[in-house]
Amino acid sequence: MSETRKSIWREVSGPTYPPLTEKIKADAVVVGGGITGLTSAILLREAGLSVALVEADRICSGTTGYTTGKLTALHRLIYADIAKTFDEKTAALFAEANSRAIDQVETLVGKYEIDCDFRRLPAYTYTTRTDLVDTLEKEARIAGKIGLPVELVGETELPFPVEAAIKLDNQARFHPGRYLNGLAEKFTANGGRIFEQSRVIGTTSEGVRTDRGEIEAKHVIIATLLPILDRGLLFIKNYPWRSYLLAVSLQDKGSLPAGMYISAEDPVRSLSPAGEDILLIGGESHHIGHDPDPQNRYQVLENWARNHFTVKKIEFSWSSQDFLPADGLPYIGYLHPFTKRIMVATGFGKWGLTRGTFAAMTFRDMILGKENHWRKAFTPYRLSCLKAPGNFIHSNMHVGRHFIIDRLKAYTGQTSLPNPGEAAITKRDGRPTAIYRKSEEERQAISPVCTHLGCYVSWNKAEKSWDCPCHGSRFTPEGEILCGPAVKVQAKLDASTGKKQKKDSR
Ligand SMILES: Cc1cc2nc3c(=O)[nH]c(=O)nc-3n(C[C@H](O)[C@H](O)[C@H](O)COP(=O)(O)OP(=O)(O)OC[C@H]3O[C@@H](n4cnc5c(N)ncnc54)[C@H](O)[C@@H]3O)c2cc1C
Ligand code: FES
Repeated sequence: MSETRKSIWREVSGPTYPPLTEKIKADAVVVGGGITGLTSAILLREAGLSVALVEADRICSGTTGYTTGKLTALHRLIYADIAKTFDEKTAALFAEANSRAIDQVETLVGKYEIDCDFRRLPAYTYTTRTDLVDTLEKEARIAGKIGLPVELVGETELPFPVEAAIKLDNQARFHPGRYLNGLAEKFTANGGRIFEQSRVIGTTSEGVRTDRGEIEAKHVIIATLLPILDRGLLFIKNYPWRSYLLAVSLQDKGSLPAGMYISAEDPVRSLSPAGEDILLIGGESHHIGHDPDPQNRYQVLENWARNHFTVKKIEFSWSSQDFLPADGLPYIGYLHPFTKRIMVATGFGKWGLTRGTFAAMTFRDMILGKENHWRKAFTPYRLSCLKAPGNFIHSNMHVGRHFIIDRLKAYTGQTSLPNPGEAAITKRDGRPTAIYRKSEEERQAISPVCTHLGCYVSWNKAEKSWDCPCHGSRFTPEGEILCGPAVKVQAKLDASTGKKQKKDSR
C-alpha cells in the first residue's frame, strides 16, 4: 500500500488556540473540541452565555477528525431493535433527533458560511444476501411507521448487485475538519474562548481543573467521547470499538457512487463519496485491544476495494474509535440525578456526527430551561441496559476477564526484550514492563497498568500505541495519552529494571 496513514479530514490546517494558563470564569465550560463540544459551545454562545471550551489536544483531533463524514438518520439497522428494546415512540424520537441534527448542521453551515462541502444526498443500507432481505423489509416497515420516509429498492448504482436496499433521501455529507474549524472561528469571533493543549483532569465544586489552570463555571459539559468522569458509571454501559478507513481515488470518476452506503451484513462495508473522485471505504471493526496485528485489516479493505472498484490509488488510510452503547441509544444529559451541573454525551455507536449534534442541541435546551422532548429517552442514568442484558453482561465480563487474565499473563509470561521494531509486556527484575524497542538500542518503557482503572494495556502494531482493552484509553510508547477516558499519563519505567524513572515526576 502506498498511502499516507492519515485522515483525509486532517489535511486542512485550522487556527490554533492558546493553552489555559490561569483561573478564569465563564457561564459554561465545554470539555472536548469534537463535534459535540464545538456545537454545544456555539449554540450556548448564540444564546448569550459566556462559554469556554477546553481541548486536551487540538480542535478536531478526536474521532470527529477520523470519520466517514456521513450525516444521516439511517444508522444501518437500528429502528427495529430500538422499537423492540424500548418502543416505537422512542424509535420515532431517535429518528427525529437525527434528522433535526442534519438540519442543525445545515443551518450553522449556511449562517456562518462555512466552506465544508455540505451536500444533501441519499443514504442506503444494502444487502447482497437473500437471507437478509426479510430483515431489511422489517427495518424499512418500522422506519416508515415511525415517520422516516424510507423506500425499499432492489437496485442501486453500486458496481455489484444487491438483493435489497433501504434508501433514505435528503441525508448529507460534509468535511468534518473544515466544519469544526469554521465553527471554532465563528465561536471565538463571537466572544467564545478556546484553550487547546489543556487537559481537564477533574471537576471541582466550582467548575473544572486542567493540567494548567482552572475554569469556574455554573454549567459543565463533558464532550470527551467517553466521559472522563467515572461517577456516572458510563464506562460499564459502553464498549470501545475501533474501525478502519481507506480514501481511494478511482480511475473512472463516473463510477463514484453519488449516495452513501452501508452493508447490513458482516463484514460491514461503509461507502461514502468525498470530493470529485475519492471514495471512502470503511469497515473491519473490532473490540479495542483484541487484535495484535490490525495492520492486516487495511489490507483486507484494500483487497475489497480493488475487487469492487477500479482503484487508481489508495490516497489515505486511518483508523479511529467510538463507543457502542449497551442498549443501542446514546447517553445524553446530566451525569447523575444528584447534580444539575455536569452534563455528558456518549454512546454514539459510530454515528456521532448526528448524535453529537443533537446532544449539543439538548444541552442548550437543558441549560436554557427550554422544553426538549428527546431528553428523557437518552438520559444517562436510565437502566435500560438491563433490557438488553446480553451486550451489557458480555462487555463487562470481557473487562473482568482482561483485568485478571492480562495480569496473570504479565506475571507469568515473557522475560526477554522484544525484537527491534516490536513491543511487548515483559518482566524486568520481576516487574511487568511495557517496552517498545524502537531500534536495537532505543527502548521506551512504561507501566503496563492503565491509569484509568488498572487494566493491562496491549500493543497495537498498526498504530504503534498501547491500547487498553477495557475502556479504550490509548497511550504513546512514551506513555502520553492519545485517547481517554484516562486523564493521567502512564508512568515511565526503567527498561532494565522496570522501576519508575526517578526524573519522571508524572
Ligand atoms: C471509523 C469511524 C467512522 C465514523 N463515521 C461516522 C459517520 O460517517 N457519521 C457519523 O455520524 N458518525 C461517524 N462516526 C462516529 C463519530 O465520528 C463520533 O461519534 C463523533 O465524531 C464523536 O464526536 P465527539 O465530539 O463526541 O468526540 P471526539 O470527536 O472524539 O471529541 C472529543 C474531544 O475531547 C478531547 N478530550 C478527551 N479527553 C479530554 C480531557 N480530559 N480534557 C480536554 N479534552 C479532552 C479529545 O482530544 C477530543 O478532541 C465514525 C466513527 C468511527 C470510529
Ligand atoms: S481505559 Fe479503563 S482501565 Fe484502561
